[in-house]
Amino acid sequence: MKFPTTPIYPVLWQKDKVLLIDQTSLPNEYALVEITRYEDMAKAIKTMIVRGAPAIGVAAAYGMYLGAREIKTDQKTEFFKKLATVAEELRQTRPTAVNLFWAISRMLKTAYESVGTLEEIKQILLTTAQEIQAEDLETCEKIGQHGLEVLPSSPEKLTLLTHCNAGALATAGYGTALGVIRSAWTGGRLERVYADETRPRLQGAKLTAWECVQEGIPITVISDNMAAHCMKLGKIDAVVVGADRIAANGDTANKIGTYALAVVAKMHNVPFFVAAPLSTIDFELENGEQIPIEERHPSEIYQVGETQLCPDGVDYYNPAFDVTPASLINAIITEKGAIKPTELLTLKNPSGVN
Ligand code: MRU
Repeated sequence: MKFPTTPIYPVLWQKDKVLLIDQTSLPNEYALVEITRYEDMAKAIKTMIVRGAPAIGVAAAYGMYLGAREIKTDQKTEFFKKLATVAEELRQTRPTAVNLFWAISRMLKTAYESVGTLEEIKQILLTTAQEIQAEDLETCEKIGQHGLEVLPSSPEKLTLLTHCNAGALATAGYGTALGVIRSAWTGGRLERVYADETRPRLQGAKLTAWECVQEGIPITVISDNMAAHCMKLGKIDAVVVGADRIAANGDTANKIGTYALAVVAKMHNVPFFVAAPLSTIDFELENGEQIPIEERHPSEIYQVGETQLCPDGVDYYNPAFDVTPASLINAIITEKGAIKPTELLTLKNPSGVN
């Protein structure tokens, strides 16, 4: 199957609407979903048509513009009241990835601080959403470069393990963890990537694998319970994962299973890196215990397609994320460079948005 799919932009502004790559159809079908209303953007985020922390932020920023565009009033007070409702609806979509809240706050702040007519403010909101998108792309490329500085210096060609999808699909393009892997590949430092399949939504098996195939990056998919075995056999030189929210002390929420990976990496002396933009750091939270963890529908566990896996009468628990303690993370790779989790506060953004 061949798709005209590179470069990969999961969110694309086209003339007067947003196009989203439908990530629930990949890898079997490459389909685009047109979004013209903010309610549909909220639904797309909730149902994971668009997913991954930075990509959700970009999508929400466009959602804010679409919502502003729909507001029919020439009264500023009424406009801002309605815009606050749009913001709240978008905030309610997913609780863990802080980029969502960061992008919405930045859009609201821009709207409040802009002078001019409401039409002009709406236009500024569109430009701001486009800026958030362009900045994320640039940020990811920088993360990729900084990642190369901290990866182990030997062997020359590394085998890197990643979890979930922190690639172009999860960002404005390029990716965070997969951005580091992309840089390693183009820089001649990658032998192969191992991708955990990432139960229950299989972002590794479906999305990371799809992205790597698009770009000819050699990839081996393993099921989540094979990572420790692979490390014990010496197959993995380093682990690189993304993040959904990082607390001020460096504790990091990422896709469920990341914590287990960090524990086994420590056990086997395999360096463990988190790659994330500054917009993923929540300086308001002192530690990871304060990060809200999304729980998703149990059908993600008990069902594959139409097939039910477990007998009736079973209980389920389906947290979508877990928190890896800072002590298990060798470095956090940001657009400003790679730093120890304990030094995160030195990167605090003085703009106050995060
Ligand atoms: O539930 P998802 O698919 O939105 O979760 C995504 C992840 O956990 C990613 O690893 C994280 O958002 C980093 S994306 C650059």
